[in-house]
Parts: sequence; structure tokens; C-alpha cells
Amino acid sequence: MASGKKLRLDRYLADMGAGTRSAIKNSIRKGQVEVNGVIVTTPEHKVDETDRVCLNKIPVVYTRWEYILLNKPAGVLSATKDPKGRTVLDLIDSPRKKELFPVGRLDKDTEGLLLITNDGALAHRLLAPKSHVAKRYYAKVTGKVTEEDARLFAEGLFVDASFRALPAKLEIRQAAEAGSEVVLEIYEGKFHQVKRMFLAVGKEVTYLKRLSMGPLTLDKDMRPGQWRRLRPDEIHKLTGEDGHV
Ligand code: URA
Repeated sequence: MASGKKLRLDRYLADMGAGTRSAIKNSIRKGQVEVNGVIVTTPEHKVDETDRVCLNKIPVVYTRWEYILLNKPAGVLSATKDPKGRTVLDLIDSPRKKELFPVGRLDKDTEGLLLITNDGALAHRLLAPKSHVAKRYYAKVTGKVTEEDARLFAEGLFVDASFRALPAKLEIRQAAEAGSEVVLEIYEGKFHQVKRMFLAVGKEVTYLKRLSMGPLTLDKDMRPGQWRRLRPDEIHKLTGEDGHV
């Protein structure tokens, strides 16, 4: 709810996931909802974020912004709509799904951390090229990754004639002619960036997973397709606020 904007009481409770619109209307009519300590029995009663709303005596605080961390599985598009297949939004559940969008994109075959939100200003800040938000990826690549590759990445790799990557940190976890495992930290988000960086040193990415973005880190035990809401400390690190209006 924008500051000062009023919302119907049933909509306020539905937005906060208190139940279906019809169940909420029933609760209101049965006298189970109080606004500022007074029972209100009309679902169309208008409230805003300064009102104290309780359902069955339990406060329901209005949070304008939703922040969801998804472990994106391979095979799903980072988009809000895809006429041909599933999108990341099909994997999550929220009463305000229509407002949500993924912050940036992971390729269809990439797994890992994806932030989904309705906070456009935050998305803009995170995606702005000059923000240089750190993103860490775990990758399996063909061939033997060398210290020379790491040095080229650290200097700012010439990816092609039109793109020189910013200096990046390449950590070699395992290297053999049969294939290597690495963790790469980059500070920009160009199209297919990680895959293009490895191609520029003669290797192909065969598996890619994002481990972190800015202050957010993927939980170790989160399986592909699992998601959760951000914790207040994570929201605070991202926005400098606790996410409440
Ligand atoms: N770099 C890539 O090549 N692909 C992604 O999905 C993310 C970063």
C-alpha cells in the first residue's frame, strides 16, 4: 500500500495471506477482526498502514514489499510469463503473485539463487550497471582451468571485440583435462556473461549455479525449486529497512 493509501479490510488481510477473500469476509462478518481495538464487521471498511489490524486477537502487520529467494531449477524461465513453458513465478505461492517479478535473469539451464520481489526500486538499484553487485557462481567447465585463466579474469578479460569484463575473482576448486570445477565472482550481469567468459579462454560451461548475489546467499540445504521469504536481517541488508511500510 502506498503511504497514505487506504485499502479495503478484506483486501488488506488477503494481501497478507490471512486466507481466501471469502473466508476473510466470513471472519470479518463474524466479528473476528478488530481495527484499532474496535470490532469491524464490514469487509469494505477502509484501512491503511497506520491502523492496527488484528485477526482473532493476532496482529496482522501490513508489509508492502515481498522478497522471495528461490533456488531456480534448470528448465524454467526467469520471466513472469512464458506461453510455452514454466516460469519461476509458477514455482512460488503468494497472494500478490501478479505484482512479482524476478530481479534479473538466469539462463534457462542455470540453477541457483534468484530474488523475486514487487520492489521495483530495489530491483533497479541491484541491476544498475554502476552498482557492481557481486554475484558468485559455481561452474563445471570443460578442460583444465589454469592460474593463467584466473590471472586474465582478475585483470579484466577481453570477452569479445565489444566487451571487456570487469576484474573478476576465479577460484579453482578442481582442475583436470577431463573438466574443472570453479567458483567465479563477477560484478556485472551481461547476457550469458559467465559462459562467454569461459568461452573466451577456450572452455565451455556445462553446469552453472548462482550461489550468491550481494548480501544474499543460497541456503546449503535448499533444493532446486524450493523457495522462502527473506528473513528481516536479509531484507535489512538489501534495503536498509525491515521491509515494513
Ligand atoms: N552467466 C551466464 O552465462 N548465465 C547465467 O545464467 C548467469 C550468468
